[in-house]
Amino acid sequence: MFGFSHKTIETRSMLLLVLSLIVVSIGGIVEIAPLFFLKNTIEKVEGMRPYTPLELAGRNIYIREGCYSCHSQMIRPFRDEVARYGPYSLAAESMYDHPFQWGSKRTGPDLARVGARYSDEWQVQHLKDPRSLVPESVMPGYPFLATTELRTDNAADHLKTNVTIGVPYSDEMVKFAEDDMRAQANPASDDVEGLEKRYAKISVRDFDGNSKKLTEMDALVAYLQMLGTLVDFEKYKPEKNLR
Ligand code: HEC
Repeated sequence: MFGFSHKTIETRSMLLLVLSLIVVSIGGIVEIAPLFFLKNTIEKVEGMRPYTPLELAGRNIYIREGCYSCHSQMIRPFRDEVARYGPYSLAAESMYDHPFQWGSKRTGPDLARVGARYSDEWQVQHLKDPRSLVPESVMPGYPFLATTELRTDNAADHLKTNVTIGVPYSDEMVKFAEDDMRAQANPASDDVEGLEKRYAKISVRDFDGNSKKLTEMDALVAYLQMLGTLVDFEKYKPEKNLR
C-alpha cells in the first residue's frame, strides 16, 4: 500500500518519523477537534448553585482532614454503583468544586449523594466516634470538630478566592459572607431571610445540636447534608448534544 514496504519504512528513520507523526496527529485531531465545536463541555443543570459560606467552610475542613483519602465523590455510570449510591454523578455537580473531590480510593463508601441520607445526630455521633454506630468501621474519629470554634473572619476571603476562578458569587454574597455563615447554623438569626434569598435550596438549622457555639462540626455536617441534593433527578433530562 502507498508504494512503501515495511522494510523501506523501517530502515529509513526520517521517513518512519514523519509517518509516525502523521498517524499520531490524526488521533490527536479526532480527540481534540470536537471540543472546539461544543458550546460547553459542562452541560448546564437546573438546581446547581455555589456553596453557601458555611458549606464551603465544611468543604475546607473535609479537605483539611483528608476525608478524600478514603472517600470518593463520584458515582460512575455502572449499574451496581447507581443501585447502591443513586443517579450517577453529572459534570455540573462538581462545577463549583475547586479542587474537585472525585477521589480515587474507596476505603469508605462514596459520599457524592450522602446528603440527607442520615440525621444530623447520626452524622455528629459518627464523626465523633464511628465505632459507636458501625462497630467494624476503620474510620478515625474527629471528636475535636465538635469543640473547635469555626473561624468566620475569613469567610469573605474564601468566597473572593472562588470568584477569581470563576464561581459566580455576587458582591452581595461576598459582603454578607460572615453573617450568612453564622445564620445558616442559627435559625433564630435576623440574617436568615437574606441568606435564603441569596442561596436557593438550603437547610438552616443547628447542625451540631449545640446552639451555644458555631463549631467546625456545624460546617462539616452542613456540607455533608447537602452533597448530591441540589439536582432534582425526577426532572433532569440530559442535553441532546451531549448524549
Ligand atoms: C481511614 C479511612 C477513612 C477516613 C480518613 C474517613 N473515613 Fe469516613 N468512612 C470510612 C469507612 C470505612 C466507612 C464505612 C463504615 C462507617 O460507616 O463508619 C466510612 C463511612 C463514612 C460515612 C457514612 C457513609 C455512608 O453512606 O454510610 C460518612 C458520612 C463519612 N464516612 C464521612 C467522613 C468524613 C467527613 C471524613 C473526614 C473528616 C471521613 N469520613 C474520613 C473510612 C474513612
